[in-house]
Order: sequence, then C-alpha cells, then structure tokens
Amino acid sequence: MTAMVKAEGVHKSFGPAHILKGIDLEVAPREVFCLIGPSGSGKSTFLRCINHLEQINAGRLYVDGDLVGYRQKGDKLYELKDSEVALKRRDIGMVFQRFNLFPHMTAIENVMEAPIQVKGETKAVARARAERLLDRVGLSDKAKNYPSQLSGGQQQRVAIARALAMEPKLMLFDEPTSALDPELVGDVLDVMRGLAEEGMTMIVVTHEMGFAREVGDALVFMDDGVVVESGHPREVLGNPQHDRTKSFLSKVL
Ligand SMILES: Nc1ncnc2c1ncn2[C@@H]1O[C@H](COP(=O)(O)OP(=O)(O)OP(=O)(O)O)[C@@H](O)[C@H]1O
Ligand SMILES: [Mg+2]
Repeated sequence: MTAMVKAEGVHKSFGPAHILKGIDLEVAPREVFCLIGPSGSGKSTFLRCINHLEQINAGRLYVDGDLVGYRQKGDKLYELKDSEVALKRRDIGMVFQRFNLFPHMTAIENVMEAPIQVKGETKAVARARAERLLDRVGLSDKAKNYPSQLSGGQQQRVAIARALAMEPKLMLFDEPTSALDPELVGDVLDVMRGLAEEGMTMIVVTHEMGFAREVGDALVFMDDGVVVESGHPREVLGNPQHDRTKSFLSKVL
C-alpha cells in the first residue's frame, strides 16, 4: 500500500537556522497521525513542507506516492512549475490555528469559494456541497453569518468545511483548537473525530492529548527538528521511553 505521506531524511533550514534535521516518518491512508512537541520544534514547518509552502533542503517527501514539488526522471529531480504545485496542493486541506476565513464573505460563501474559483464549478454545485458540509459541521443555521458573527469554534468549523470542499485526500491540522476558549474546543474535536471515523487521512499537530489518545492511530513526539519517539498514542503517552518525551509530557499532561 502506498503511504499517504512519506518523509525520508527531510531537512529544512531558514538561512543558518537548521530547523528540520532529518525527519523520517510514514502516514498510512486513513490514519490519524498526531504530531506533538515543544514550541519551535518544527511541527508547523514540517506541515508546510508537506503541501510545499516551504521547500525542503535535503531528503525526500512524498504525498500519495508523488514527490512533493518535484518530478523524478531516472535519478534526476525536476522542480514542478507553480501551476503544477497548485494542482497537487488541491488534494491537501489545511486548517490553521487562526481560521483565516474571508471576512467579507458569509460562511457558505467561504465554503463555496475555492471550488468555484479553482475548479471552475458552477455556483449551484458548489452551494449544494457547501450546504452539506455546513450541515456536517453542525452549522446549517449559520450559513449566512459573516465570520465576525461567529464564535471562534464556529469559525474553525467553517474553516474545516472550507478545506473539505476541495475534497482533499489528506487533511493537515495545525493546532486547530489552541486559539479557542476551552468550552468551544469540544465541538471542533467532534468534527475531527467524525472525519476520522469516515476514513480521512489526517495529520494533526495538537496539544489535546485526550484527542490524540482516543482518536489517534499513531503519534510522533518531535523535538528540536528530529523525531524523538513514535508509536501508538496510548503507548507513547502512557509509557514514554525517552527522557525528552517524559519531560515534555510531564508539562502538558
Ligand atoms: N519563515 C521562517 N523564517 C525563519 N525562521 C522560521 C520561519 N518559519 C519558522 N521559523 C523558525 O523555525 C523554528 C520552528 O518553527 P515552527 O513554527 O515549525 O515550530 P512549531 O513546532 O510549530 O512551534 P509552535 O508549537 O510554537 O507552533 C522556529 O525557531 C521558527 O522561528
Ligand atoms: Mg506551530
């Protein structure tokens, strides 16, 4: 079976700052893959490399068997054109800590926008899907609200619906609940749990250890640009092997 994401010795630097120092990991299709680690360890950078918002400096990164950003011919790599990168990026949905909704568009318009603009879908088709997706995230009654008229948790659920509207094969979540008031976190996690049950492949950077334990199939603890420890979430969280993991978990659990 082809891995949905495969990283082999991935390195990333920003100028002199060496941020990712040889990341190796594999995410299977339909897997919920949780990524934890201290601030600055490179979690967001790694997610951004997966959808080629950042270029890597060494190693190989594949999504669904395709090299991210490059085409391989023999043993030579050729960089893809921007238009080709954009085409691949369509397959990957990304949800950020801050919801980044278009402020001048209603909830449903936010969800309809990319399929219309990027895929050339008709409004009717895009609207029908957007209605279904808003229903799925529990926001049918808020379709006509603008982002400023929604709570943070509701905005984040619209952001998830918006990412799903492109029918991605992989969803990347970068601390999707960490900007939310505690009472709003549950609804967002419920939507993510539902997605997991439907078989969506997801990489989730999170501080929600309860979610990782219950919903995660795999968990990686990253520190200072390397994978320190990985395994089933219950094992890593319940019986960490490395001192760095133990010390991190003692602060967050
Ligand atoms: N565009 C950039 N230019 C220079 N340095 C960057 C850039 N993006 C990230 N970095 C640096 O890379 C390191 C890793 O950042 P990253 O955002 O990946 O960490 P993180 O693990 O997601 O942390 P957090 O938990 O705080 O979100 C940090 O030291 C950061 O300052
Ligand atoms: Mg981050």
